[in-house]
Amino acid sequence: MPIVPAERMGHIGQETAFEVLVRARALEAMGRSVVHLEIGEPDFDTPGHIVAAAQDALEAGYTHYGPGAGLPELRLAVSHYLQRWRNLEVEPDRVVITPGGKPVMFFAILALVNPGDEVLYPDPGFPIYESMVRFVGGRAVPMPLREERRFRFDPDEFRSLVSDRTRLIIINSPHNPTGSVLTHADLEAIADIARERNIVVLSDEIYARILYAGQHESIATFPDMLDRTIILDGWSKTWAMTGWRLGFGVFPRELVPHVERLISNSVSCTASFAQQAAIAALEGNQDAVDRMLDEFRGRRAAIVAGLNDLPGVRCLEPDGAFYAFPNITATGYTSRALADALLQDAGVACLAGTAFGQYGEGFIRFSYANSLENIELALQRMRLFLEQGQGASQAVARR
Ligand SMILES: Cc1ncc(COP(=O)(O)O)c(C=O)c1O
Repeated sequence: MPIVPAERMGHIGQETAFEVLVRARALEAMGRSVVHLEIGEPDFDTPGHIVAAAQDALEAGYTHYGPGAGLPELRLAVSHYLQRWRNLEVEPDRVVITPGGKPVMFFAILALVNPGDEVLYPDPGFPIYESMVRFVGGRAVPMPLREERRFRFDPDEFRSLVSDRTRLIIINSPHNPTGSVLTHADLEAIADIARERNIVVLSDEIYARILYAGQHESIATFPDMLDRTIILDGWSKTWAMTGWRLGFGVFPRELVPHVERLISNSVSCTASFAQQAAIAALEGNQDAVDRMLDEFRGRRAAIVAGLNDLPGVRCLEPDGAFYAFPNITATGYTSRALADALLQDAGVACLAGTAFGQYGEGFIRFSYANSLENIELALQRMRLFLEQGQGASQAVARR
């Protein structure tokens, strides 16, 4: 008899980036060359002083279980960090350390959303928001982000989507996959509704430090918002630490014990020696972060100019994160067909805009967390593909 998974598994989605990576690796195993512009992780190594702090911590015996919500010294360091970088006064006991930023999403939605509750989320947007909301039986309500508004939501449309059942609003700025950044007025429009209707905001700020102009502003700094905001952040993107699995959440005080219980029922705690390295990242020299940002800025210029030069493609300049999200409708392909063809025929791995929701149709996401040389190679392959068709670009991809 076949083993039948639980009914709830029919409601959970996944992150297409990892699927495309598997397909790209399979092509590489067959001898094909692929430029990887699909995965959203910095290509840099974790800065040396952070690695050294982890090594020291291992030697010093940080190899045991720790408190579920995180080591007190790291929760304190996060509280200082938020003051320095967000202008936020947060008591350390509202900070929860998690294995990556993603569990903050998972725990927040599990702890807050009842079956039938509505959750507004950005579309296109990080696919796990919708997946988790559906998984817990909530109603996922997309907040469309359109190119004509530089991929920021329309405040009137946003207000029309809020209902008596809205429990949670998810925002993400700087934004994956479009690189858009919400303005002070955008955040104000959300804060006003959240206060008026007693709605919680999940503010995914994982790209807060990957911002090309201006200062990052958190919605939690708006009057009375800290008590109704969950901030998601972590070490993955800022310090190139995706594989360490380190994130943090700032929660309204009432939610902290519930999140601690979810942690004790799932992961128990975050790796103790990794948490020591996390302190070194927050409190140590930030030059490496600045250097990475400079490098991303150069790549952004190259990929945006290159994409705008391709037939049928136009691309806005993103304000943050490390993704370009060009409009490809004039190529005549759907998003999925073009993403598949670029991988199969041109050796360029990227993601269909629809991997981020229905409003992603007509777009492709490129992660420019790759070398300038590889970005140029990808652009050259795409040009051949779009100008001359499949045969020519296959020849390039086989070189
Ligand atoms: C918008 C957004 N939030 C959260 C995450 C998760 O980060 P982590 O790897 O720390 O779990 C990502 C990772 O791609 C992301 O793009």
